[in-house]
Amino acid sequence: MTRPNGAIYMDQITIKAPDDWHLHFRDGVLLPETVSATARCFKRAIVMPNLIPPVTKREQALAYRERILEAAGPGSDFNPLMTLYLTDETTPEQIKEAASKIIPAAKLYPAGATTNSEGAVGSIEKLFPVFEAMSECGMLLLVHGEVADDNVDIFDREKEFIDQHLAPIHVCFPNLKIVFEHITTSEAVDFVLQTGDNTAATVTPQHLMMNRNDLLSGGIRPHNYCLPVLKRNVHQQRLREAVASGSHKFFLGTDSAPHTKQAKENPCGCAGCYSAWGAMELYAQIFDELGAMAKLEGFASIYGPMFYGLPVNRETVTLIRDSWTMPDIIELPSGESIVPFYAGQQINWRLEL
Ligand code: NCD
Ligand code: ZN
Repeated sequence: MTRPNGAIYMDQITIKAPDDWHLHFRDGVLLPETVSATARCFKRAIVMPNLIPPVTKREQALAYRERILEAAGPGSDFNPLMTLYLTDETTPEQIKEAASKIIPAAKLYPAGATTNSEGAVGSIEKLFPVFEAMSECGMLLLVHGEVADDNVDIFDREKEFIDQHLAPIHVCFPNLKIVFEHITTSEAVDFVLQTGDNTAATVTPQHLMMNRNDLLSGGIRPHNYCLPVLKRNVHQQRLREAVASGSHKFFLGTDSAPHTKQAKENPCGCAGCYSAWGAMELYAQIFDELGAMAKLEGFASIYGPMFYGLPVNRETVTLIRDSWTMPDIIELPSGESIVPFYAGQQINWRLEL
């Protein structure tokens, strides 16, 4: 069967096993929950370092990786890839010491831009020797692309970051591979498309499925609150076009970021959507709506490893058109609970396990 836009209607699709190039596992008692939710369908994940205290050094990253592997269990082939949290104190030596196959990247958070970023980078310019070292040893720079400036409107912070910081970094270090994480605006799409092969971007399910009305219209919906914040529908549309185009510069990064129900449903609620329970299925739903199922494999399983210089997974996964409902709540052994992203809503695709 053919759809009006010429795309073939599919009831199932088999693709190379996907990876998640941006997520938050947290630590300690949360790891059994978060790691198994992701290892359910992703073979590898780029693990964000914004723990308390943050993962700033090689030994911390390696120890954190061991805790993740333990949570994945002895039979698991899940491969967590670690990142260093850049601070004003990070040195080029620390970068050279850490850069490796299992610590392929470092994360730049402007101090105060998002969850657990208070101790991050105050002066981006002062980090240029660190970027130089990263460029030399092939370590990727992952950026939270928002200025942390209360004088800049929250909806403009991504665009400001491009102009003030990202464009200059790219000009000064053309060989530095940069991943512009969880992009939300048409300006970010333009930046990535207009720069060379050393820039790419991850795109989350929530920024493809939603816009700021889903956050603020008819009542505040704290479970749709994440950073960078959801933008106008024209930006959402641009992101959808970007991934549907099949450009290799855009790939999968869920930004799955759990917070307890209590921390989200709060007068000052935390930013982050816990999407791991349905991430791959939601991306399938999005690409299906876009009539772009043929482009799903590139986005989910090919372009990420290509950019990181890693092999594509050998295994495959199959997604089937079959509806199910995301649970309303996930109870944790600690007695706390998490409201997952898309809670209580119907998803039209199911991962065959
Ligand atoms: C993330 C978190 O909770 O750690 N939150 C979010 O809204 N995305 C941090 C981040 O990626 O900005
Ligand atoms: Zn994140």
